[in-house]
Amino acid sequence: MTVVDDAALRPTALSEYVGQRALKDKLAVYLEAAKGRREALDHVLLYGPPGLGKTTLAHIIAAELGVAIRITSGPAIEKPGDLAAILTNALEDGDVLFIDEIHRLGRVAEEHLYPAMEDYKIDIVLGQGPAARTIRLDLPRFTLVGATTRPGLITGPLRSRFGIIEHLEYYRDEELAEGVARDARLLGVPLEAAAALEIGRRARGTMRIAKRLLRRVRDFAAVAGEGHIDLQRARSALDELGIDPGGLERRDRVILRTLVETFAGGPVGLDTLATALGEDRATLEEVHEPFLIQRGLLQRTARGRVATDRAYAHLGLRAPSDAGLFESGG
Ligand code: ADE
Repeated sequence: MTVVDDAALRPTALSEYVGQRALKDKLAVYLEAAKGRREALDHVLLYGPPGLGKTTLAHIIAAELGVAIRITSGPAIEKPGDLAAILTNALEDGDVLFIDEIHRLGRVAEEHLYPAMEDYKIDIVLGQGPAARTIRLDLPRFTLVGATTRPGLITGPLRSRFGIIEHLEYYRDEELAEGVARDARLLGVPLEAAAALEIGRRARGTMRIAKRLLRRVRDFAAVAGEGHIDLQRARSALDELGIDPGGLERRDRVILRTLVETFAGGPVGLDTLATALGEDRATLEEVHEPFLIQRGLLQRTARGRVATDRAYAHLGLRAPSDAGLFESGG
């Protein structure tokens, strides 16, 4: 059996990476210039919502430079010693060190990173107490690629040490369709263009979601004994998954419906809404709300959460602001 895992589907060249046009154009210049000078690329900070391909881009940067990539994450680096171990053992000249969720790096580890980024040196403390002494080690000239979904949590001193700071944008439906079509080709799944676009439309602007939906649609098609995925097959599988044409999941619709039906559309406080949903406040606020807000379905106001007219329309209901103007159609 051939296994095609996520890593095998990952593009390894900038030219295979779909979308993010502005970012790709700039990065191509920086990569070519660094290669021309035979220097390590400046440190890169990539930020943006989860699932847009920051990790993939880090792999591409290393592949385009023809160097190795070492991968770690902010939470994995607990002690300064963890960072020193990676920097002194695992890296060679020019290599990429990828730190995911770099906003979760501890303060002490972060301070050790400053001289490493700036001068390719690291201070290591030997011994303890009064006998402790510090030695300074030279490091290879590496490129740090940091990724974060929360750029506001990156301290000024760390941010200022990145020479390249770039934002990843949500993808357009057509770009998501292109990414999905690419994976389908690599997976050997016959997928019609209209089906790829339907998956793209329901993927919330997020490449990771689009790729996941493709795999689930493929499962439905396989179990139905259907090798080929056309628009109708894609639609029925996505409906079955509870993903509606706007990309909302069941839980998103329950949230809107509760807001509309239990709280007359709001405003209602976050805690009250969370309790009514049997959800914890952080999940509601950080997992579900951003998408609903981005799509203009929910608003955060000073007095609480409010369902917009668009939310009513999405649920097939008449908004209170329409009252008396039209006869309700649904
Ligand atoms: N995987 C993750 N992001 C991607 C992108 N932008 N294009 C292709 N594959 C990807």
